[in-house]
Amino acid sequence: MICVDNFLTGTRHNVERLSGNPLFSLIEQDVIDPLQIDGPVDEIYNLACAASPPLYQADPVHTMMTCVVGTRNLLTLAEAKGARFLLASTSEVYGDPEQHPQTEEYRGNVNCTGPRACYDEGKRAAETLSFDMLRHGRADARVARIFNTYGPRMLENDGRIVSNLICQALRGQDLTIYGTGTQTRSFCYVSDLIKGLVALMAVTPNPGQPVNLGNPVEITILDLADQVLRKTGALSRLVHLPLPQDDPPRRRPDIMRAYTLLGWQPEVGLDDGLSATINYFKQALVSP
Ligand SMILES: NC(=O)c1ccc[n+]([C@@H]2O[C@H](COP(=O)([O-])OP(=O)(O)OC[C@H]3O[C@@H](n4cnc5c(N)ncnc54)[C@H](O)[C@@H]3O)[C@@H](O)[C@H]2O)c1
Repeated sequence: MICVDNFLTGTRHNVERLSGNPLFSLIEQDVIDPLQIDGPVDEIYNLACAASPPLYQADPVHTMMTCVVGTRNLLTLAEAKGARFLLASTSEVYGDPEQHPQTEEYRGNVNCTGPRACYDEGKRAAETLSFDMLRHGRADARVARIFNTYGPRMLENDGRIVSNLICQALRGQDLTIYGTGTQTRSFCYVSDLIKGLVALMAVTPNPGQPVNLGNPVEITILDLADQVLRKTGALSRLVHLPLPQDDPPRRRPDIMRAYTLLGWQPEVGLDDGLSATINYFKQALVSP
């Protein structure tokens, strides 16, 4: 297995335990630069991209280029090697959705000039590139539209809601709620998501269409904060800050396509997933 990462938002620490494995090698590189890989490649998972709004907005041009030029480079590599290719796309392609829950047929409601556009439109363009390469017989490309996913090894401070709330609670700090907290999200545990990605890469024939992967159980951010407080035993207060621009009020995947094509559905409930994530951060905050 070859891991390519520029460590923009990932950490070396997360792959350190693999460094002694002879089947694992690490290339520190930006996917915007053309990749030179010797030998055969069977499958390419294109996961490269900052994924939390503060981090992908920090250098929006780089985010857009990662999605577009990075995906083009990895598709070109897939073409040269005859490898299968999977794009980690996102529910953000639906923007501020007028349809609920979101099926893959829904074409979305993205503000193409707003601060989230570098990511949303970047991923939409990456999907276009993937399906063009597929249609022209140049790459066996598959596209997963991932909805909010969480779990151990997230960064503690990248602005994503689950890690934010857990770390604030564990530190005894106030919990930050953006807006009223009545906006909803559907949270998928990382092990479920990975099973879905692997199943989508493996399925034959190529579905030829994007596949939503996420957990359809929808909760409000206030409910999530309550669960974090209950599970950590923290006495933190909730502090409300203004909602960021273009923050979608509702998000829930329709996963019928994933279920029909892949036999996939999430197995880890929020209760268990939050416990595992809280346990991870308890350790990580003590010995980073
Ligand atoms: N976690 C989610 O909720 C979620 C939802 C939708 C889509 N996704 C997508 O899934 C993928 C993985 O997300 P994640 O949550 O694991 O985020 P992450 O930040 O943990 O992982 C992204 C990885 O890509 C690397 N990277 C970023 N830009 C790069 C570049 N130009 N060249 C090389 N490496 C680069 C980062 O260093 C990091 O290791 C991303 O593409 C993201 O857009 C994630």
